[in-house]
Amino acid sequence: MSVTVRVPAKVNVQLAVGAARPDGFHDLANVFLAVGLYDEITVTPSPDGLRVTCEGPDAGLVPLDESNLAARAAVLLAARHGRTPDVHVHIAKDIPVAGGMAGGSADGAGALLACDALWGTGASREELLEICAELGSDVPFSLVGGAALGLGRGERLTPLEVGGTFHWVFALADAGLSTPAVFREFDRLTQGTDVPEPVASPDLLAALAKGDAHALAANLVNDLQPAALSLRPSLAATLDAGTAAGALGALVSGSGPTTAFLCDSAEAARKVAGALGTSGTCRAVRATQGPAEGATVV
Ligand code: C5P
Repeated sequence: MSVTVRVPAKVNVQLAVGAARPDGFHDLANVFLAVGLYDEITVTPSPDGLRVTCEGPDAGLVPLDESNLAARAAVLLAARHGRTPDVHVHIAKDIPVAGGMAGGSADGAGALLACDALWGTGASREELLEICAELGSDVPFSLVGGAALGLGRGERLTPLEVGGTFHWVFALADAGLSTPAVFREFDRLTQGTDVPEPVASPDLLAALAKGDAHALAANLVNDLQPAALSLRPSLAATLDAGTAAGALGALVSGSGPTTAFLCDSAEAARKVAGALGTSGTCRAVRATQGPAEGATVV
């Protein structure tokens, strides 16, 4: 008996970052859009106790110990329901590792939903979201998918209306970037400046609601982009290559180093993907669409 859950990656179409808080986190206005790259998490009873395995091109980069968010999800849910987390969690990984697309968060949300189903825990949506927020700032969004505005650390979600399908190309970089390191670089770059309160852009929310790719492209913004570019200057060439190939808009995805290109049709996305693929500025290229459904039992 086993349960498999499919969980999407995300891109942040707006990531407004405030000043560092006393707890070290940053208040955000984080507009998440789930996109069609997926990890699949399968859980199976394991008499020998908790075990994590991973397959996929980046599998060697995924920690398989108790620091893995999927393992932590199983442990937290089991503890709340007075049982042992005797489960084998297998991750079929397609979301880039340490890529700024919430791959680790996807695995946490997926394992949580899968263990809930396997164990018949019957946790409410509210409890699942609470555990997600405990696991990490982006994990609640991985559970709900679609599009949402995340406030606070990004964990306080309001679902957003999306009036159409957006076509995206993602350029994967050679090595990952550490999210805490990118936030530290943000702090260094903004030191001594007056960092404004993060607020969602009304024009961007209107563009999402209308499904207007041109208006969305004009309003894409990521306050972490200067920090990611400072740590990984080569990303500027990737952004230029995708823009030159006809993308409507380009930005670093979350804390990077994946770069995201919004296109006005599937055909335009194929063209941008082809050009990026031969540009010599990235490791791999993926074309897909958003919004995508959140964590789902398959
Ligand atoms: O919440 P999560 O564990 O995913 O965050 C990883 C790291 O990213 C945090 O330890 C912190 O350094 C940084 N972060 C932040 N502000 C946020 C979210 C994350 O500074 N809102």
